[in-house]
Amino acid sequence: MHALEDPSIDEIDSERLRLRPLRRGDASELHRAILETLPDLCRWLPWARPGHGKLDTRRYLRGVRLGWSRRIALEFGLEERTSRELVGVTSLHRIDWSRRCAGLGYWIRRSRWGEGLAREAAEATLGHGFSRLGLHRIEIQVAVGNHASHAVAAKLGARREGLARDSEIVDGAYLDHVQYSLLSTDRVWP
Ligand SMILES: CC(C)(COP(=O)(O)OP(=O)(O)OC[C@H]1O[C@@H](n2cnc3c(N)ncnc32)[C@H](O)[C@@H]1OP(=O)(O)O)[C@@H](O)C(=O)NCCC(=O)NCCS
Repeated sequence: MHALEDPSIDEIDSERLRLRPLRRGDASELHRAILETLPDLCRWLPWARPGHGKLDTRRYLRGVRLGWSRRIALEFGLEERTSRELVGVTSLHRIDWSRRCAGLGYWIRRSRWGEGLAREAAEATLGHGFSRLGLHRIEIQVAVGNHASHAVAAKLGARREGLARDSEIVDGAYLDHVQYSLLSTDRVWP
């Protein structure tokens, strides 16, 4: 079986987390996690809207499953290994298999910020992308002013490449994003 077709290859264990494909059964807990984080998600992520309801979460999960089945966007639920709590999501999105290039996304539920979980999960996702999926370049786009996310990108050792102007519509307005990149050849990946 080709590596990309083997579902077992899509589970990643880091020190405290299991990264695994989001599934239909995650809907309720994912929804609670989204609601507690919503003001921050709306500020920085294009898919989040004020008034996000249960149907939006279900729609989001349908999109996630489509992304997985087409292998164009892989969204991982971050399950804490001891408590089984869903603490956030990372993603490899806009995957271009011909250039072996993808974008990295991450968010952590508000009640679990400041524990190093984003850094741990992003590191594991990058390792998976480079070492197991064979990607060569992974980009992170961080909105100007999103200090927490800039700190995560810096901790990961991502290289700052420049400013992408009006590169995303978030909560009805264009935002400029700083583009960062990491290469498979930058260092040894987990
Ligand atoms: C960005 C986000 C994922 C960070 O999650 P987190 O789990 O709290 O981050 P971590 O605990 O792993 O922090 C990693 C580093 O960033 C630093 N950091 C975290 N938040 C920070 C902030 N607001 N300002 C400055 N530094 C910050 C931490 O101190 C840590 O550095 P350290 O190891 O030297 O202490 C979280 O704030 C979030 O979900 N935000 C909303 C969604 C979002 O913006 N996603 C990113 C889109 S590009």
